[in-house]
Amino acid sequence: MGGRVGLIFVKLGGSVITDKAKPFTEREYVIKRLAREIHSAHIHTGLRLLLGHGGGSYPHIPANQYKTYLGLIGEDSRIGIALVQDAAARLNRIVVNALISEGEKAVSIQPSCAAVSRDGRIVSWDLRPIRLMLNLNLTPVPYGDVSMDLSTGCSILSTEELFRYLGLKLRPHRVIVGSDVDGVYNQDPKKNSAAQKIPLITIENVNSVLPSLGGANNIDVTGGMRSKVLSLLELAKMAGVECEILDISKPGNLEDALNGKKGVGTIIRKA
Ligand SMILES: Nc1ncnc2c1ncn2[C@@H]1O[C@H](COP(=O)(O)OP(=O)(O)OP(=O)(O)O)[C@@H](O)[C@H]1O
Ligand SMILES: [Mg+2]
Repeated sequence: MGGRVGLIFVKLGGSVITDKAKPFTEREYVIKRLAREIHSAHIHTGLRLLLGHGGGSYPHIPANQYKTYLGLIGEDSRIGIALVQDAAARLNRIVVNALISEGEKAVSIQPSCAAVSRDGRIVSWDLRPIRLMLNLNLTPVPYGDVSMDLSTGCSILSTEELFRYLGLKLRPHRVIVGSDVDGVYNQDPKKNSAAQKIPLITIENVNSVLPSLGGANNIDVTGGMRSKVLSLLELAKMAGVECEILDISKPGNLEDALNGKKGVGTIIRKA
């Protein structure tokens, strides 16, 4: 089964499924609700789904402590790799278990033992298992993880970077990136209540938007909102797919989006 018809990528932001201000703290009831929304929409639409999730306060903690995103920089870097991989996988099991409990045929995909990066960008990944899973209407669940890096030894792959690579190969017809803010603003909306939402980002206005984008509010080793927008715009350009950054901490938003509603958050597309 090829082509792009009927495949959606969804990201559950680490800022939603964990409390990024508290180490190793998942939001059990939020994960359960999102699993329910996903399964309900999946049954309703019959679409194929690939579901990624961020690391939030799980892998971001050791990744910050050991500066894993900088590569192999010292004696401690290798224990850092082990701890990041363990933390990311633990959160993934929590998410996959919640999905299975709600009826979703979710299967864990571990990027660190399949994808290889160079300077933080994925350069190879055998996608046959994922393609075959999608053909069976299973829901593959990759996640932000550490990677073996040909240039720096190790790196951190955000879910947006996974989607950039997977999007080029698997050609989804839509990408929904769930976060704890209802889109991209001209300033961090958590720090300034006068911040204004930017409803649409394309190659035409991205350069005027970028200077106002901060990083993440809390620890985020992959660069927060700015790198999120850049990865998604690259995906939009290269794969011609429309992406939307959406607040999925609001109950119903993700289910509505999966059922076809658009424009509640910020849309990122080529033009
Ligand atoms: N201009 C902006 N518009 C919107 N959000 C912004 C902006 N600048 C900074 N932010 C911050 O970016 C955060 C979202 O990015 P962050 O990487 O923390 O979340 P996430 O991607 O859900 O987490 P994870 O990377 O763990 O999956 C928001 O909580 C917000 O505070
Ligand atoms: Mg992030």
